[in-house]
Order: sequence, then C-alpha cells, then structure tokens
Amino acid sequence: MTIILYASPRADGYTARTMAEYIKNCHDQVKIFDAFRINAKPCIGCGRCADGFCHYHDLDYLFAQIIEADTLVIATPIYNFNVPSPLKAIFDRMQPFYEKPLTDKKLNVDILFSCGRSGEESTKYTTRMIDCIIKNLGGKIRDIKITNFTDDRND
Ligand SMILES: Cc1cc2nc3c(=O)[nH]c(=O)nc-3n(C[C@H](O)[C@H](O)[C@H](O)COP(=O)(O)O)c2cc1C
Repeated sequence: MTIILYASPRADGYTARTMAEYIKNCHDQVKIFDAFRINAKPCIGCGRCADGFCHYHDLDYLFAQIIEADTLVIATPIYNFNVPSPLKAIFDRMQPFYEKPLTDKKLNVDILFSCGRSGEESTKYTTRMIDCIIKNLGGKIRDIKITNFTDDRND
C-alpha cells in the first residue's frame, strides 16, 4: 500500500498535478491523507511519548496506515524553506517514533516538491528534516522529484 501525505491547499496547484501524475504511474493501492484537512493538533512537547505513544489520538489512524504501508509519498510545496505548517505539525507529532523507532520496518519514501524558486536551494534543509524523521519509521528516501520555478509559470 502507498500512503500519500499531501500538503498543498491549492487543488489545482503544481503539487496536486505532480501527485496526479505519480498516482497514474503507481500500480499499488493508494490512500491520500490531506494535511490541510487532517488539521493535526500540534505537538506540545509534553514528553509523554517517551513510551512510544502520543497522548493525543487524532493521528492514530494515519500512523496505523503508515505502519502498514510499503511506500510513503510526501507531496508538498515549499513554504519558507520548509513544508506548510499543517504537514510540519504532523511531522512534529511523529516524535513517538523517535522515542521508539520502527526498527523492523522497511518503508520506501518518495518526495514530490513544488517550489516557486530554485528547488536546489529551497528543498535542502527540508530534505534533511524528512530524512531524519522517516528513519524512525524504517524509511529511506527512494526518489525526489522537484518542480522548480513555479512562480514564473502561468500554466
Ligand atoms: C507562504 C509561502 C511561502 C513560500 N516560500 C517559498 C520558498 O521558501 N521557496 C520557494 O521556492 N518557494 C516558496 N513559495 C512558493 C511555492 O512553493 C510555490 O508557489 C508552489 O508552487 C506552491 O505549491 P502549489 O502549486 O502546489 O500550491 C512559497 C509560497 C507561499 C504561499
């Protein structure tokens, strides 16, 4: 199963189009989770996840699906050299996996970035952040597709 974490608020933006193209070429069962609709509660740093479980339960279903998945796709625009805040909230809530990593799991991770400017510069630290977070899920970045300079385009 392939889980897509989608994080653009624009239904007809570049991230939506790149994701549609990805799904067209994907032969796996695909489930899309829209970060802007999930509206994850932000991590409050309470430290209770030291036992591997978050005190909040709004992301339980998403995390259960990621644990089952073979592939995780992160389809996101770059906002201020990072991901939009609803996706960042989900990433911060993955702290229980930092506390208790999924050591037996293997997860392919594909990233689809959309950037208004140069992707090379804009995605550098975000890629590093994603790499750190997904390691705790048994994940390894398999592919990165960057759609560059979208702010100069009119299509
Ligand atoms: C709040 C905000 C911050 C942005 N920051 C960056 C940035 O740091 N680097 C960049 O290349 N583009 C930046 N952009 C441009 C978007 O990444 C670009 O428009 C992208 O195509 C948006 O994705 P979408 O077409 O799926 O909506 C920013 C856009 C917004 C709205």
